[in-house]
Amino acid sequence: MTVVVVADDAAAAAAAAQQQEELPPGHGQTVCVTGAAGYIASWLVKLLLERGYTVKGTVRNPDDPKNAHLKALDGADERLVLCKADLLDYDSIHAALDGCHGVFHTASPVTDDPEQMVEPAVRGTEYVIKAAAEAGTVRRVVFTSSIGAVTMDPNRGPDVVVDESCWSDLEFCKKTKNWYCYGKAVAEQEACKAAEERGVDLVVVNPVLVVGPLLQPTVNASAVHILKYLDGSAKKYANAVQAYVDVRDVADAHVRVFEAPEASGRYLCAERVLHREDVVHILGKLFPEYPVPTRCSDEENPRKQPYKMSNKKLQDLGLHFIPVSDSLYETVKSLQEKGHLPVLSKEIPEELNGVPA
Ligand SMILES: NC(=O)c1ccc[n+]([C@@H]2O[C@H](COP(=O)([O-])OP(=O)(O)OC[C@H]3O[C@@H](n4cnc5c(N)ncnc54)[C@H](OP(=O)(O)O)[C@@H]3O)[C@@H](O)[C@H]2O)c1
Repeated sequence: MTVVVVADDAAAAAAAAQQQEELPPGHGQTVCVTGAAGYIASWLVKLLLERGYTVKGTVRNPDDPKNAHLKALDGADERLVLCKADLLDYDSIHAALDGCHGVFHTASPVTDDPEQMVEPAVRGTEYVIKAAAEAGTVRRVVFTSSIGAVTMDPNRGPDVVVDESCWSDLEFCKKTKNWYCYGKAVAEQEACKAAEERGVDLVVVNPVLVVGPLLQPTVNASAVHILKYLDGSAKKYANAVQAYVDVRDVADAHVRVFEAPEASGRYLCAERVLHREDVVHILGKLFPEYPVPTRCSDEENPRKQPYKMSNKKLQDLGLHFIPVSDSLYETVKSLQEKGHLPVLSKEIPEELNGVPA
């Protein structure tokens, strides 16, 4: 008799242990994502729901039809709550963070208008850290900063490998009226200061220019960077370099730095640095049917050289970056699917052959 009971207990314990092992990593945890309907945040919400988290997503108007893509995500019916919040309204941020185990602060204006940019970016971030400290349940805050807080430094030598130790020069940002970079750099600095003062565990992700498919119905600023080379609005490309990363890797990076207990500090999130000529070359080869520019707007100066950049910290957390050419391909397909770019035929129709334009 006793033997049977022991066997049953062992079986029950084994079953419980197996069930525990099968639970997704986010099971039983609630996290807040600010600016949930944005380009990056939408992918982040999707990934968090897939990993079993309950998500409180802040939006400025939960009834706005532009949030419909979030409500349609797998798991949203059961585990997504949209909360009304504005970055400049502390009480709304405080309410959104209530009961949360983690916070992903992605909301920010994305503009070079100083009036619209700096205050919400900086004060909103301070509010998020304060509310996280007051909630008493938040294990970690992940802040979406930017490459704009890293590379705007005119004194950096050409051979320096850009890594997490680099900071943008605030005076240079001001002088060049680069208010987006200024706002992001100040917001990140203030976030670090406030987190230290209040004992909040803060980890920062610094994405470079983000490309890849869109979940949201509207065109965000970094998608315009690609769209303008396809819809005829950019006749030439600039003599400039830029680092790129896929939006799905940015979401993945946020979740990795949240879940890895050892994660700390900043994480540069970049696949590679390309000259604009490389970007238009890739686009032109993949989509020859669009009027992709073939000439540079600067025919006098030497071609700008791509700087070197390290993504080692995220690779060490297991992230394998999607190649930028795949991301560019999927950006264009997504812009077509969402109706932002007409689908053109690659072939010249036979009936137009020989017909004067
Ligand atoms: N995309 C990139 O290339 C890139 C690169 C590096 C870093 N980032 C950073 O990534 C984050 C997300 O950017 P994104 O590209 O996904 O841009 P996005 O699609 O424009 O998303 C930004 C979100 O922030 C919200 N927001 C702006 N001001 C707000 C305010 N005062 N109160 C509440 N919400 C506000 C917006 O809400 P509304 O829709 O209501 O305006 C939107 O949902 C930002 O912090 C940005 O600085 C982006």
